[in-house]
Amino acid sequence: MALNLDAVGKKIGPVSKDYNWKDVVLYALGVGAGGSDLDYCYEKNLKVIPSFSIAAIFEFLSHYAANANINLAGILHGEQDLIFHQPIPVEGTLTTEGKISHIYDKGDKKGALVIGESDTWHSNGKKLFTSIITLFSRFDGGIGGETAPKETFEYPDRKPDFEIAESPSLDQPLLYRLSGDVFALHVDSEFAKMAGFEKPIMHGLCTYGYSCRALIKCLTPGEPEKVRRLKCRFSRPLYPGDPITIQIWKTEDNKAVWKTINTRTGEEVITNGIFEFGDIPQKEIRFDDQVAVVTGAGGGLGRIYALELAKRGAKVVVNDLGGSRDGSGGGSASAADKVVEEIKAFGGKAIANYDSVSTPDGGAAIIKTALDAFGSIDILINNAGILRDKSFIKMEPENWKTVLDVHLTGAYNVTKPAFQVMREKGFGRIVMTTSAAGLYGNFGQTNYSAAKMGLIGLMNTLKLEGKKYDIKVNTVAPIAASRLTEDILPPELFDKMKPEFVSPLVVYLCSKECDATGNIYNAGMGFYNRAAVVTGAGTTMGDGVNPPSLEDIVDHLDTISSLKNGKVYFELNEQVGDAINAFNAPPPSAGPPETARKISSPAAVFDAMPKAFNADAAKGVDVIFQYHISGDGGGDWNCVIKDGSCNISAGIHGKPICTLKISDTDFVDMINGVLPAMQAYTSGKLKIEGDIMKSQLIEKLFKL
Ligand code: NAI
Repeated sequence: MALNLDAVGKKIGPVSKDYNWKDVVLYALGVGAGGSDLDYCYEKNLKVIPSFSIAAIFEFLSHYAANANINLAGILHGEQDLIFHQPIPVEGTLTTEGKISHIYDKGDKKGALVIGESDTWHSNGKKLFTSIITLFSRFDGGIGGETAPKETFEYPDRKPDFEIAESPSLDQPLLYRLSGDVFALHVDSEFAKMAGFEKPIMHGLCTYGYSCRALIKCLTPGEPEKVRRLKCRFSRPLYPGDPITIQIWKTEDNKAVWKTINTRTGEEVITNGIFEFGDIPQKEIRFDDQVAVVTGAGGGLGRIYALELAKRGAKVVVNDLGGSRDGSGGGSASAADKVVEEIKAFGGKAIANYDSVSTPDGGAAIIKTALDAFGSIDILINNAGILRDKSFIKMEPENWKTVLDVHLTGAYNVTKPAFQVMREKGFGRIVMTTSAAGLYGNFGQTNYSAAKMGLIGLMNTLKLEGKKYDIKVNTVAPIAASRLTEDILPPELFDKMKPEFVSPLVVYLCSKECDATGNIYNAGMGFYNRAAVVTGAGTTMGDGVNPPSLEDIVDHLDTISSLKNGKVYFELNEQVGDAINAFNAPPPSAGPPETARKISSPAAVFDAMPKAFNADAAKGVDVIFQYHISGDGGGDWNCVIKDGSCNISAGIHGKPICTLKISDTDFVDMINGVLPAMQAYTSGKLKIEGDIMKSQLIEKLFKL
């Protein structure tokens, strides 16, 4: 059966996979790390060997083979190129998308090359690495396709600059395979012989991992995150127990070439190695030609935001009325002026404004300052704040109102004229400042908590009204040492709580690069996380026509209160939609729909096969499949396909063309799609004898 040339260019994936620190450590042990490489093996300050990435997405590689219809008996890993865009985190979810980019013919009996390219993203949203893999399909040549471009590769004409000796143990493949590549070729003697080897061979990618460790040791010691590229060709098999030597030539400041040889025989097992390293070229986030307004920027957090925005090119309005901590007394221009001076001292552009945010006129005047001085406004950070803490009983209307006027009404007063300009220009970034006191509560701060939670409501709706105009509205809940917190937080924490820790997140939220809107982030002391209003899955009660009784509510209170499987709604309609549709959802006891019901035993599979037979696909096919299913539910069945017809019978056929051996449970899993056929085969769960290629017809012949 020929390679499927139509597979070229077709999207594969996305395929996701979770991993955690134990997977990272297991991989490290699999590629020979140990006590002397504790950074790779101990969860404290754990570092990830970058070649872990290809092991982590190993399952994805089977899609290339399946899509290209490669004869599995002849498949070998030819070349591997990994290009790293970001360091690999120690845990998370990897999502991979790719395609077969080329299929090259090497000629009849010489095989073919299938090139797969993929990109992998981490759940943190960053693209981590690109993989380019060459699969050598030994038995699929002579398809008449284009030939692979010729590549030349030269090593310097001198002794290697570094040589690292390693001794993978006899049992190394047994450990390495636990990281994902469970192909029987590396563990099963019978299988290895069938594939033409004298015994099981090392995984090429395991030797690749050893080589990666050696390269890091010599060229970026202790800094695996500096690996930018690792490329090579797998030239010869290596048997477990054979020692290896990794030879490295540094050719440029950030580049080396390398090869790995079998120290015992002198054979080159990995050649054409390229290793690139260095810092990740960071794209600087800039605010050139943008205008930012920061309220309350005369000190504390606001000052740091203003400085950072100005350093990155923004023209900044530094607003601060220069009042006391509780907002009483008159203002002073000096606070805002000092910050403007600081900005101008490093060549930045800034102007001071001394209006109070707490009146509509004040808000309008602040934005007018931006328009008059710099012609526009792109960014607004509502940061000004005061405190008037009192226990609730002592909370007089004056203290209640003054705090709400600055925080909540103040944000309204400044945002309204700014929003008008942003809407007209079709761009805007607004940051509200909430507080853990509002999100979670804090004794003595009812006024402040109410104001701070009110800002979340303001953001929730403003994000919807701004969506069409690329206006993103987000909220930060900072923790930082300032005059507002000096008597609330323990002094020993003050040093750790520099406002500079909050600023990177806030300034990012102000950037064009920020796509998020309507999010709340806690930030402080180097710790950042998202907070959200989570709504539980809930339950319906009664028939939706007659209201339930009070007692019914009490009976269901646990389910009503549970946040399990909770959701974060983006807007009111989503929640109301769920409420309206709640009675239309299938009751939990209804079970899966008929179509989702799965086949439960091998006998049921063979009963269903005549009906599932696809006569059109069987034109010209002449084959006899023999199934040996082990286990309690197993048995022998054979299937004769000839002249577009199919005959299934129990028992053993005298002249099978292709024999499949598998356990009853694996067989049922495979038919139900739980165990991909390719994975069953490569892991040795499915053994195929006779004409292996014919086995690949089964999926097309039967639509079970
Ligand atoms: P800060 O007191 O150093 O800064 C607040 C600034 O706002 C002051 O410079 C003040 O003069 C100015 N301001 C007060 N009323 C104003 C008005 N009506 N118009 C114009 N400016 C006015 O305090 P910090 O800590 O830097 O606070 C910044 C923001 O962060 C506030 O909204 C605060 O509630 C919030 N926050 C701070 C936390 C922290 O740990 N520092 C915790 C949670 C929230």
